[in-house]
Amino acid sequence: MKLRFAKIAIFLAALIPLGRLSWKALHDGLGANPIEVITHSTGDWTLILILATLAITPLRRITKQYWLIGVRRMIGLFAFFYGVLHFTTYIWLDKFFDLHEMFKDVAKRPFITIGFSAFVLLIPLAVTSTAGWIRRLGGKNWQRLHRLIYATGILGVIHYIWLVKADRRKPMEYAGVLGVLLLYRVVMWAVEKRKSVAVPVRPRTSAEATGA
Ligand code: HEM
Repeated sequence: MKLRFAKIAIFLAALIPLGRLSWKALHDGLGANPIEVITHSTGDWTLILILATLAITPLRRITKQYWLIGVRRMIGLFAFFYGVLHFTTYIWLDKFFDLHEMFKDVAKRPFITIGFSAFVLLIPLAVTSTAGWIRRLGGKNWQRLHRLIYATGILGVIHYIWLVKADRRKPMEYAGVLGVLLLYRVVMWAVEKRKSVAVPVRPRTSAEATGA
């Protein structure tokens, strides 16, 4: 019941940024540079949702609300959704689907190279997010593959830091949140390693490894 309610609430909440953008677009509210507004908003939400996905594991362990794992996939898929919108804005409204121009940009501008890499890494995560893929890959391999989310988060933050020319406060806030979320994992990994040296543990099942 809790999970169902949370899923509906997150689904609706995650559509709000898109709804706001669409509303503004339809009512001439995007200002003098609409492409910039759309790129910034979709980029922001891609990163926020990547960080939210990464926050689920610590949140569920700290609060002992284990059902939270049930919303992780949805948040991750919304991160991908906003990533697709962000990339589409760039390739469509900025580059008019000129792939040659796009790859020139990817090769020449480091912040685009990094953003593009972050986006490419999100694709296998979205594709393999289903229960069928967890079964096909096996829990351990699936979990290994899904560690790519750490790289995506790091590249996403670097992309943001590099594209900002003056006030770096906002990207540094994202970097701080990401740092805490990654540090939590390092600490947990070290604690579990110490425990497993003291008491040999049985291998985790697929369901335990993926948190399903
Ligand atoms: C996971 C992937 C990505 C994330 C997390 C991300 C995140 C962001 C963020 C947070 C911003 C700044 C928003 C703001 O100023 O409030 C941004 C801007 C931007 N991103 Fe991305 N991005 C990603 C992928 C890409 C890709 C693939 C491209 C293009 C190939 C791209 C191109 C841009 C451009 C052109 C801007 C605006 C730069 C400007 O201010 O002139 N991003 N992105």
